[in-house]
Amino acid sequence: MSIALIGALIAVQILRDVPSLRAAVDALKSDGKPLVLVPTMGALHDGHMALVEEGRRHGRHVAVSIFVNPRQFGPNEDLSAYPRREAKDAALLQSAGVDLLWAPGVDAMYPTGFSTNISVSGVSEGLDGAARPGHFDGVATVVTKLFNQVRPDVAIFGEKDYQQLAVIRRMVADLDLPIEIVGMPTQRAEDGLALSSRNAYLNEEERQTALALPRALGEAKRQMEKGEPVEAALAKAIANLTAHGFAPVDYVTLCDAATLEPMTRLDRPARLLGAAKLGKTRLIDNIAVDPA
Ligand code: PAF
Repeated sequence: MSIALIGALIAVQILRDVPSLRAAVDALKSDGKPLVLVPTMGALHDGHMALVEEGRRHGRHVAVSIFVNPRQFGPNEDLSAYPRREAKDAALLQSAGVDLLWAPGVDAMYPTGFSTNISVSGVSEGLDGAARPGHFDGVATVVTKLFNQVRPDVAIFGEKDYQQLAVIRRMVADLDLPIEIVGMPTQRAEDGLALSSRNAYLNEEERQTALALPRALGEAKRQMEKGEPVEAALAKAIANLTAHGFAPVDYVTLCDAATLEPMTRLDRPARLLGAAKLGKTRLIDNIAVDPA
């Protein structure tokens, strides 16, 4: 019988409180083999499943967490509308042979009296940090908790949330957390749109228009790599998105690939990041831009 088939026949364990999680993790780790965590907010799509696949390459055991984290949503954001479909997610994880699903409720994650905040300065301050105040404190706080709860050896995050990945890398280094952080390239639909749970909000017309985001970033990258001034290339990308009906365009910015400091000249490895709203849906994307 193939390993995938055996995986599909063994039900994924779903844990909802910290003591049961600890017991399940202890049992998994008793063979001394590495445990990999893929943190998610659920509504799993092929992008998440690619993270799970990548997890398989990094460790014997794979745990996935599903927790729609209220602390990373702003007061005017889509917390209550955020897609939740745990039964479907659990079935997907089971067929991918995932060992453990950590799916706590809000009370298990943030019991009454919870008062701690993890805040990473610098790398979390611009871009989405500026557009969504408090967002990265919410992410850093919940990811620290997830790490302490699951105690993985390796954790996998998608590069689609590039700033989030940079914030988590900074936090793990600063706090000496003994966890290897693996970044996974953005998974895209055939036409180039980055896979995201939020794509589910787009109607058919918006789904087509959404392609303007990866295309505008791709065009700006080509221009900058050919030597066009950074400012002009960014301005064209913003004008292009506005012409396609994105409003507001929160940013299209070229940043240092590691520190995310804004760059006005392409003189070192860079990342081009964009965020803009299409109708009610906020989309983000990013690509690498390399100096000649
Ligand atoms: O990327 C996400 O889905 C979330 O921000 C994360 C890392 C699971 C924290 O809630």
